[in-house]
Amino acid sequence: MDAITFEHVDVVFGNRAGQKAALDLIDQGADRSKVLEETGAVVGVRDATLCIDEGEICVLMGLSGSGKSSLLRCVNGLNTVSRGKVLIADSGGTVDVASCDAATLRRLRTDRIAMVFQQFALMPWRTIRENVGLGLELRGLSRTERDRLVDEKLALVRLDQWADKHPHELSGGMQQRVGLARALATDADILLMDEPFSALDPLIREHLQEELLDLQRSLKKTIVFVSHDLDEALKIGTHIAIMEGGRIVQYGRPEEIVTQPANDYVRAFVGKVNPLNVLCAVSLMRPARDGEDIDRERAVGLDTPMRELVALARDRGGTFPVLDGSGTVLGMIGEHEIYDGLLRRRSGDAL
Ligand SMILES: Nc1ncnc2c1ncn2[C@@H]1O[C@H](COP(=O)(O)OP(=O)(O)OP(=O)(O)O)[C@@H](O)[C@H]1O
Ligand SMILES: [Mg+2]
Repeated sequence: MDAITFEHVDVVFGNRAGQKAALDLIDQGADRSKVLEETGAVVGVRDATLCIDEGEICVLMGLSGSGKSSLLRCVNGLNTVSRGKVLIADSGGTVDVASCDAATLRRLRTDRIAMVFQQFALMPWRTIRENVGLGLELRGLSRTERDRLVDEKLALVRLDQWADKHPHELSGGMQQRVGLARALATDADILLMDEPFSALDPLIREHLQEELLDLQRSLKKTIVFVSHDLDEALKIGTHIAIMEGGRIVQYGRPEEIVTQPANDYVRAFVGKVNPLNVLCAVSLMRPARDGEDIDRERAVGLDTPMRELVALARDRGGTFPVLDGSGTVLGMIGEHEIYDGLLRRRSGDAL
């Protein structure tokens, strides 16, 4: 079931008259710079349509200024939607964040949607426990009840020993885990994460990505995650929406993005990722040749990761049949297919 649906969302920043003029220009097909020049309004997002399933991690990826934060912030009403709908599944029906009343928006923000920011956004004068408990305090929970929930979440992010410290006593990675604990404390089922790990060192960052994936296996939240790094997007996203100039130019599963980039912009990102981390047998295989010897003892599954196939090829040499669940041979993988994968070529064509 869809947890969040964006329907033809435009976000335009500017005064009322500027916004109206900008939307008219957008409808005439004007680009961002023309809209800015003629109306003074800035186009953050244009015509974004996207369905995010419950329990999915959808990554919004793109260059700086492509509209990722603008789109994300529509979900909790931090940005005003100029046109279109942002539907959130709510008690059997849906609520349109773009047009709901203030009380409904407030309820969604305290009960259903939590956000993790890039720059932690912790209050320096509050202890870690008090920072994490902020949302619960706003909800009016008693101190004992709050502390119980907070300590549980601090344990989840392995910071239970740090509850009485202040933010400046923690490293960046630890502060970001506090931000995550604060978002988890409210039990919101939708998490918005705007480049939560971008300010951190690469190793810490990878570590937190893995922690988030680990947590998600049991929490099963619906997560919208903004990143400008395709490697990060491929690692944590169940789906990826690639944004360029305010538009969603491609939406798909990680493997689709890598094997079938929609345009040169996506291709440029894809060119920089490590194929060993993303490709698997189904996108590397070639059709079996007539009369080709098929040794079922050497068969691999459709979703065998490329890293594993490279190790197999190194240790055993030769070709490997790729089988589906019912045992049908779907293709073959040998040294050449692995080289093509490393060079990101398919059927002899550079991708
Ligand atoms: N509050 C605002 N007021 C005016 N213009 C804004 C506002 N927020 C964003 N914009 C504009 O909207 C466009 C998209 O910005 P946005 O912050 O969504 O990009 P982004 O993809 O998140 O970039 P980054 O990776 O740098 O965070 C930019 O041109 C920006 O100047
Ligand atoms: Mg941003």
